[in-house]
Parts: sequence; structure tokens; C-alpha cells
Amino acid sequence: MDKKTRIAVFVSGGGTNLQAIIDAEKSGIIKSGKTELVISDNPEAYALERAKANGIKTAVVLKNNGQSEFEKKISEILAENKIEMIILAGFMCILSADFTSKWPERIINIHPSLIPSFCGKGCYGLHVHEKALAYGVKVTGATVHFVNEIPDGGRIISQKAVYIEDGDTPETLQRRVMEQAEWILLPAAAEKVAGEIAEKGESYGHL
Ligand code: GAR
Repeated sequence: MDKKTRIAVFVSGGGTNLQAIIDAEKSGIIKSGKTELVISDNPEAYALERAKANGIKTAVVLKNNGQSEFEKKISEILAENKIEMIILAGFMCILSADFTSKWPERIINIHPSLIPSFCGKGCYGLHVHEKALAYGVKVTGATVHFVNEIPDGGRIISQKAVYIEDGDTPETLQRRVMEQAEWILLPAAAEKVAGEIAEKGESYGHL
């Protein structure tokens, strides 16, 4: 396949999932797509340093002028960079139907639980693991899904289960879910979707 799907990764924090994507591009696990741009809503996100260290263009878009301005600015940057696919990798903002409808089955998200457990509005990051431990489930995991207007509600692409261990804290569980599930699932799903988009060879909306 000659042409690689042009990917933008959206981040808000540490960026270990972004790192997994970058590493997978280097090792050849992701061969159908290339991360051309990293967008963060948080200027302090360490993920931005990871992007810069790997020569990837970055942009910070603040949410302070409301949702529609936020998404308008993001859309402009995506169009300028001819982006064809979006990966939400620890991006802690909800995208509106107005935005997601322009990217049908072109946005994927990693969520740190087995959807439909412990997901939806207010369920993100460490909170997801706090809720899983508080409920007392014995198995959790991670899910990669397409993004639509319902938070964590789009079609599931892949899932991996992870066992909860005695004495787990939200932090130890978060780390195990990342190591055993997220950093494996997300690059594999990114390759699958990027490959499908490259094969279709068609563009949407702004392109
Ligand atoms: C990851 O566990 C990711 O699954 C989760 O936030 C963490 C970000 O870590 N995302 C969500 O909860 C989205 N609803 P990272 O910045 O190191 O990739």
C-alpha cells in the first residue's frame, strides 16, 4: 500500500497511548497510517513533549470559548493538515454530534474498561478504575470503539480483559490495564481502521 492514512491523535495528559502508537509506527505494527499531528486541549500535557520528541507537529486548542469554537478551530487545523482519521488517546473532552457526524467511522477511542461497564459521561481516566474497584468486579479491561455522538457509545472494534488482583489500587489497576490491554489494542485497531480508510481511497467532508 503506497499511501498512508493521515492520522491526528487527540490527547489531554501523559500520552502513554500516543507513545504506543508512535512506537507501533516505528516497529511496523502500524504500516497503513502515519501520525501527522497531535492536538491537545491542555497546554501542559506531557503527550505534547512525546510528539515533539518524535518530530510530530503539535497544536493546542483551548476550550475557553465554548464547544462550537473549540470544534471549529480543531476542524480548521485538521483540514489544513489533510487529516483522514482521528485517534482519541486519553482525550478528556466530549465531541458533539456536529463534529462526530463529519467523521463517520473515522474516529476511534480507547476506553479503560470493558464497555458497557464503567463508561459514559464522567467516566474517564483513574475514575474508571476507582469505579471498577468500588463495584468489586473481578475482571475489567479496555475497549477500542468508533466515536459517535454518544460518549463511549460507538461500535466496538476490539476489547481485552484484564484480571483484578487482591490489593489493587486505582493506580496499580490503571497501569496493568494499560500494559496488558490498551497499549496493544489501540495500535492494532489503528492499523485496522487506517488500512480500511487507505483501501477505500475516498475522503469525507472537508477534504
Ligand atoms: C488511558 O487509560 C485512557 O484509556 C483513558 O485515559 C488514560 C490516558 O492515559 N481514557 C479515557 O478514560 C477516555 N474516556 P495516557 O494519556 O497515558 O494515554
